[in-house]
Amino acid sequence: MSDAVKVGFVPFSAAPRGILVVFCDDALRIGSATRKALGNAAELLKRAATAAQFKGKDASVLDLLAPEGIKIQRLIVIGTGKGKDLPERDFLKFGGALAGKLNSGSEAVTVLAELPDEAMTPDQVSAMAAGIRLRAYRFDRYKTKKKDEDGALRADVSIAVADPAAAKKAFAPRSYITDGVMMARDLVNEPPNVLYPEEFAKRATGLRKLGVEVEVLDVPAMKKLGMGALLGVAQGSERPGRTVLMHYNGGKRGEQPVAFIGKGVCFDTGGISIKGAASMEDMKGDMGGAACVVGLIQALAARKAKVNVIGAIGLVENMPDGNAQRPGDIVTSMSGQTIEIINTDAEGRLVLADVLWYVATKFKPKFMIDLATLTGAIMVALGTEHAGLFSNNDELADRLIQAGQETGEKVWRMPLGPEYDKLIDSQFADMKNTGSRHGGSITAAQFLQRFVNDTPWAHLDIAGTAMGAPKSEINQSWGSGYGVRLLDRLVWDCYEAKK
Ligand code: BES
Ligand code: MN
Ligand code: ZN
Repeated sequence: MSDAVKVGFVPFSAAPRGILVVFCDDALRIGSATRKALGNAAELLKRAATAAQFKGKDASVLDLLAPEGIKIQRLIVIGTGKGKDLPERDFLKFGGALAGKLNSGSEAVTVLAELPDEAMTPDQVSAMAAGIRLRAYRFDRYKTKKKDEDGALRADVSIAVADPAAAKKAFAPRSYITDGVMMARDLVNEPPNVLYPEEFAKRATGLRKLGVEVEVLDVPAMKKLGMGALLGVAQGSERPGRTVLMHYNGGKRGEQPVAFIGKGVCFDTGGISIKGAASMEDMKGDMGGAACVVGLIQALAARKAKVNVIGAIGLVENMPDGNAQRPGDIVTSMSGQTIEIINTDAEGRLVLADVLWYVATKFKPKFMIDLATLTGAIMVALGTEHAGLFSNNDELADRLIQAGQETGEKVWRMPLGPEYDKLIDSQFADMKNTGSRHGGSITAAQFLQRFVNDTPWAHLDIAGTAMGAPKSEINQSWGSGYGVRLLDRLVWDCYEAKK
């Protein structure tokens, strides 16, 4: 369900309509175009701010009935805090905060994109516009009786800027990235009876219309490749597994690709090591990594990123069944390494083991990054504010941390090392699929590392960030779409930013 917000750009001189949105800093200073638009109402703003104890703090909102003498209905003032050298993520928040004040009825809104000392730049304006759209997203496909608050926000937003053409140009790629985030959110929010491996694969084939090559491996194809780890998980479900490969070639012909790999467990019951009933419904979101990869490839293809990319997702359903794998089973992965299954609920690493190996050996990517709702333990460690980052490559890790700070999709680096690695040695096979309770996210990452060879690799454990995280200025949805903006930025920084 995307949004129903129209965002357009007009010059500062355009007459405001409907709701007027302006900005002030924490000294309640406003810009010159804003002063002009408000006229006498500028004084009233100061008095109202004092009365409402509005201090202009970062993304705080003062919502006023429009004063007499100005031809608008409502005046919304957004605080910019200190107002200088603000990072991009702040502009996303401003957009989100203002969209949060709009109702679901169709509304005309004019936003004066001006900071106290200067007009917002096209980049800042486009970030704000993206924030508006991200906030407006609702997943209401299955509500037959739509209440106002469930419905997607309908609004016709005109952003008044210094240079409308430049703002429009800056917003185009960002709007595609926003579409990618919404694609990922939709996939995570979909119920598991609708979105099972085959249906997920079918939705990924939708990227073909953007020029993405999509290849779907069915069970016989995966058997042929020897993907015994993934297939061991899939065998307990009536619904067969799939691996989907997406190729987008926007870079130079023959240039080494980068690869993104996603865990796509469409539902995780735990299998024979079955989970408790409490919150099990959340395990429909255990394909958040795969959802992010699809949203990311969509964004990169739509905005014509200058890079060769591979997206690869392993899609299964982890079910208890007469044919389900057992604790004690030993499976042979595509790499030839054998794995003793200790706990069938540690299934994500089994799926990723084969997909990582396949991508590393077949495509020899410049680097590869996997995303997975892999462990509950990462939430114990980091809560929902950061994704866990594990990497065998400092440069890649640093670039991810940087991209996280820029976009606000934050990551926190966690350790890897031989002392942790040996915790998954098995007495019967080459390794076992769980360690002890201690360092659960780290031993999971160590397991993955056994399938990446020397490929520069990073693993993002997004169990805390992909779904069910607290609502924020730019996300009111259960499925957050986490990772699309982060990885799009990483690609941009690595391949497209002017050096
Ligand atoms: N999909 C879960 C991890 C998860 C839990 C994601 C809660 C989001 C919210 C994963 O497959 C899992 O079950 N992990 C186990 C691993 C354990 C058996 C070693 C866990 O975290 O308990
Ligand atoms: Mn599990
Ligand atoms: Zn899982």
